[in-house]
Amino acid sequence: MNSSKRLERIPPYLFAEINKKIAEAKKRGVDVISLGIGDPDMPTPKPIIDVLEKEANNPKNHQYPDYEGLLAFRTAVSQWYKRRHNVDLDPEKEVLTLIGAKEGSVHLSIAFLNPGEVALIPSPGYTVYKTAAIMTDAEPYEMPLLEENEFLPALRAIPSDVVKKTKLLYLNYPNNPTGAVAGKEFYKEVIDFANDNKIIVCSDNPYSETGYDGYKPLSFLEIPGAKEVGVEMNSLSKPYNMTGWRVGMAVGNADIIKGMGISKSNTDSGVFNAIQYAAIKALSLPDSHIENLMKIYQKRRDLVLDTFKKVGLKAFKPKAAFYIWTKVPDGETSASFATKILEKTGVVITPGAGYGKTGEGYFRISLTVPDERLKEAMQRIEKVLA
Ligand code: MLT
Repeated sequence: MNSSKRLERIPPYLFAEINKKIAEAKKRGVDVISLGIGDPDMPTPKPIIDVLEKEANNPKNHQYPDYEGLLAFRTAVSQWYKRRHNVDLDPEKEVLTLIGAKEGSVHLSIAFLNPGEVALIPSPGYTVYKTAAIMTDAEPYEMPLLEENEFLPALRAIPSDVVKKTKLLYLNYPNNPTGAVAGKEFYKEVIDFANDNKIIVCSDNPYSETGYDGYKPLSFLEIPGAKEVGVEMNSLSKPYNMTGWRVGMAVGNADIIKGMGISKSNTDSGVFNAIQYAAIKALSLPDSHIENLMKIYQKRRDLVLDTFKKVGLKAFKPKAAFYIWTKVPDGETSASFATKILEKTGVVITPGAGYGKTGEGYFRISLTVPDERLKEAMQRIEKVLA
């Protein structure tokens, strides 16, 4: 069967490929510990599940949800943004319910990118931004995120012929995969750049709650002028251990939200109302929920950093998110090192090349496995590399 030219440009999904490798190793009888995908191992808090159970029993919730999402959920999102980031959002016009930030990033592209236009994407970066551009026959342009720039893109260094064709800029801080964060100065620069060049900004912010050492990551929308140029994607997946529930939100510029809504209402039929009611409960949980969660990730982070230091691996201490971005040893590529680690230890790590050209020479691990399994993974790695 001949697939479309578009599909031919889309590489296999990184984590689907990694899942295949895990399945093969398991078949060979290997006790695999996957530090691949960032999928929280801890359960969704019980109060959230209780609301789902109750609402799932209400026949009113069994019919199609509203395309833009329940107004009650969008209001809860706007209250959460006010409480957490001091950002004002009109729940009717500036908030849209998503089936996760991933699909939001794609719908933004469908709604605003034309064939031949450029989307600036971070490299290394979450693979979906590139796919989103390709799906609309636009051109993804990789902005290198370099160690020496603290993994922030040098916007003014992008060639002017590329900038001229650019319609969309994807940013993602706290950053997946590097764990870097963005400050107010950088975001001010982004807003100036967007205004100068008529570019729409997408801040993909699903790790907004995952700061370490008491650090509170910013929302792009906290910066004056942000709402005039862009939107932010966020999600309940990571802070509330709800990856499987598929619920998130796009917030910000009303025209952009409206465009995304048109694309979405013609493509999907929204999020199950019972899930949205449960998500309202999640957004009302006390701050102690996140604080406790981050204490666990912080311990895991420190265990990994200590182990990697012992074996001579150069890891970057993340300020947020639950990934450790690390240089592969000299003489290895990211793929050869990931293969070696899997073969010798049964531990799955993600090769940096999967995140774009600038990801070569690095690997990522995710801290989303139970403490004991992470300890075991570190012991195995230490034995092989020490
Ligand atoms: C990751 O591992 O990069 C993420 O879990 C993927 C995602 O958020 O879709």
